[in-house]
Amino acid sequence: MTVSLFAKKTVDPELATFIAQRTFPNRPSILDIACGTGSQLVANRSVVPDALLIGLDRSLGMLRQAQPKLGNIAWVQADAAMLPFEPECFDFISCQFAFHHVRDKSGMLGAVLEVLRHGGRFVMRNLCPQECPDWLYYEYFPQAHTIDLEDFWPPETIVTTMEATGFARVTVELEHLRFCAGFVRLARCGATTRFKLPTDDDFRSRLRSGDTSVGPRAGGRRCATGACRSSLSAYHSW
Ligand SMILES: C[S@@+](CC[C@H](N)C(=O)[O-])C[C@H]1O[C@@H](n2cnc3c(N)ncnc32)[C@H](O)[C@@H]1O
Repeated sequence: MTVSLFAKKTVDPELATFIAQRTFPNRPSILDIACGTGSQLVANRSVVPDALLIGLDRSLGMLRQAQPKLGNIAWVQADAAMLPFEPECFDFISCQFAFHHVRDKSGMLGAVLEVLRHGGRFVMRNLCPQECPDWLYYEYFPQAHTIDLEDFWPPETIVTTMEATGFARVTVELEHLRFCAGFVRLARCGATTRFKLPTDDDFRSRLRSGDTSVGPRAGGRRCATGACRSSLSAYHSW
């Protein structure tokens, strides 16, 4: 089975639903926070051909890779907690697989609410280490689970903080994923960049040792089971 959990981006279904539900007096404006190399916005373009698309990331290196992928998308280097935009200027804001990296999480949520239009939608998507303690990844790197539990807020904390910030109609969806692949293959396809590893040396020595230090699972295949990502939708004052 091919692991395309993170590597490939298709149109964001949350955006497609939002666009289908709404009519826009002006062209829609869409922001992807911590956009990385911009693949999500590039994939989204087909459903919003006329929209203003902006990708924001702290890393210039990421944005330099994003820029040549597609014209007609603006790339902005900034911190997620200090968004350099006018109040209420975006209809749809996404943040995928990045909230755990943001130090000032409450500050980011406040900044998002400020730039989100009334009737707009903010959708955050991320992995949920609280829901998958038995994931092969954590079996391989036990310390990573401990570190992730510090960096990833549990969904309840995110919801409570969003509501306290002023978001309305906050919902959480948990999606349990099951996929099978050798760990080395996962590492190569980039899945591991979503996590912090204990040390580079630990990572290298584990890769050097190949796949053999974690025993085979049911059916003779090593399965990374129970990976769980949570998808949060926040609706702001319809
Ligand atoms: C794991 S990548 C996710 C990229 C993309 N959203 C995706 O799903 O492929 C995390 C991204 O968050 C960015 N990032 C981390 N902290 C940030 C912050 N405080 N403000 C803006 N971007 C940040 C990193 O530069 C990196 O591009």
